[in-house]
Amino acid sequence: MRRYSNIQIVLHWAVVLMIIAQWWTAAAIPRTHSPLLPPTASDLFQHKVHNYCGMTIGVLIALRVALRLARGFRQAPRMSNWQDRAAAFVHWGLYAALAAQALTGFIASYYWGPMAGIHRAIWNVTLALISVHVAAAAWHGLRRDDVLARMLPSKQS
Ligand code: HEM
Ligand code: HEM
Repeated sequence: MRRYSNIQIVLHWAVVLMIIAQWWTAAAIPRTHSPLLPPTASDLFQHKVHNYCGMTIGVLIALRVALRLARGFRQAPRMSNWQDRAAAFVHWGLYAALAAQALTGFIASYYWGPMAGIHRAIWNVTLALISVHVAAAAWHGLRRDDVLARMLPSKQS
C-alpha cells in the first residue's frame, strides 16, 4: 500500500474534525451538572453533541482499525526503521487512546460517574500523542517527502 484508500482518508479527517468538536464541547459538560446554576440550552446542546460525536468516533475508530488490518501498511519511502517503529507506536497508541476515551466517556455518562476521572486522564494521553503526530506531519511537510500525500485526497487512489 502506497496511499491510504479514499474511505480511509475521509475517515481520518472526519475523526480529526470530531475530536476538535469534542475538545470544544467538553467544557460545557460540568456546567450542565452545576448544583448552583440551571444549565443553559446551549450547554445542554453541547453536552449532547459531545456524547453523540464521541460515540460516533468510537464506531469510526473500530472501522478504521478493521480497514487498516485488512489493507495492511507499507513503510513510506525514505523512512528508517526507528522512524517506522515510532510511527507505528503513535498510530496504534492513537487508536487505543481514542477507543478507550469513547468507552470511558460512555460509561461515565450512562453507567458509572466516577469513570469521568479516567476519561479526563486519557485525554492527556490522547493530546500528547496528537502533538507528536502533528509535529511529525509538519516535519514530513518541511522535508517534502510523500508521507503527507498518503493521507490527502488524490484523483488516482
Ligand atoms: C473519543 C471520543 C472523545 C473525546 C476525544 C472526548 C474528550 C473529552 C474531553 C477533552 C473532556 C474534558 C476533559 C477535561 O476537562 O480535562 C471530556 C469530558 C467528558 N466527556 Fe468526553 N470525549 C469523548 C467521548 C465521550 C463520550 C462517548 C461520552 C459519553 C457518551 C463522553 C462524555 C464526557 C463527559 C460526561 C465528560 C465530563 C467529565 C467530567 O468532567 O465530569 N465523552 N471528554
Ligand atoms: C486529531 C488529530 C489526529 C488523529 C487522531 C490522527 C490519527 C491518525 C492515525 C491513527 C493514523 C494512522 C493511520 C493508519 O496507518 O492506520 C494517521 C495517519 C496519518 N495522519 Fe493523522 N491524525 C490526526 C491529525 C493529523 C493531522 C493534523 C495531519 C496533517 C497535518 C495528519 C496527517 C497524517 C498522515 C500524513 C498520516 C499517514 C502517515 C503514514 O502514511 O505513515 N494527521 N493519523
